[in-house]
Amino acid sequence: MSRFEDLSFETRWLGRPREHWAELGSTNDRAMAWARAGAPHGAIVTADAQTAGRGRLGRAWASESGEDLYVSAIVRPDAGKPLGALGLAVGVGLREGLAAWLPATQLKWPNDLLVGGRKLAGILCEARWVGSSPEVVVGFGVNVGRALFPGPLADTATSMRRELGAAPDRGEVLASILPALEAALAAFFAGGFAAIRGRYEPHCALRGQAVLVDMSNGAGPKEQVRALGLADDGALLVEPPGGGPPRRVESGDVWLAP
Ligand code: BTN
Repeated sequence: MSRFEDLSFETRWLGRPREHWAELGSTNDRAMAWARAGAPHGAIVTADAQTAGRGRLGRAWASESGEDLYVSAIVRPDAGKPLGALGLAVGVGLREGLAAWLPATQLKWPNDLLVGGRKLAGILCEARWVGSSPEVVVGFGVNVGRALFPGPLADTATSMRRELGAAPDRGEVLASILPALEAALAAFFAGGFAAIRGRYEPHCALRGQAVLVDMSNGAGPKEQVRALGLADDGALLVEPPGGGPPRRVESGDVWLAP
């Protein structure tokens, strides 16, 4: 078995080149700095641990174990293409890469991977524009080997070790994820979310469920609605409380109703 830092994997462009760190603040920050310095499309940064791992909406991402995956990829999509659903495409790739171990992994819109209702992995995409061309850092964390979760995560998070009874090799997991992620990203860049919607929806944790959602995209109270599925551009379609045509949720957070 090769060392994690010397891992080989079968991709054409994703993970080439790769930079590995024993410890970093955030792989997303390092990837953005490397992108500014000219790293090519597909370059990735990995770390054994992060001291300032970040999640969506300003949350922290627990990153101390040395047994999990912390990965950030630099991608440069063509200018002018819609990128709002990029995180959904990343979710499709991660789910397909993890399916060999955990085929029942579900996608919780927008960016979480769940097993048995508990969070296994999260995705954080951050972009900047160079003229009209986007430069995006696609970050993801997968709980592979950790057994314990701090504080409130004890009730809501899981790991591959917890689900399988033993931790798989972290390198084997990454070597499975990268080709699947490369394929999902290539399909998304070529055809938008519509091209991979059929690979997302069967695994959508919210479809048909009662969910709590902030219908004013961040400004208002939560409403209980029923999730119907996804639009071709990746928006979550929900049935309004009083009936009527489906409404679109384009950003923010969604919770399964208790
Ligand atoms: C979320 O679920 O809120 C997203 C979590 C994303 C965590 C990953 S770990 C690798 C990369 N570096 C970071 O600081 N965050 C992402």
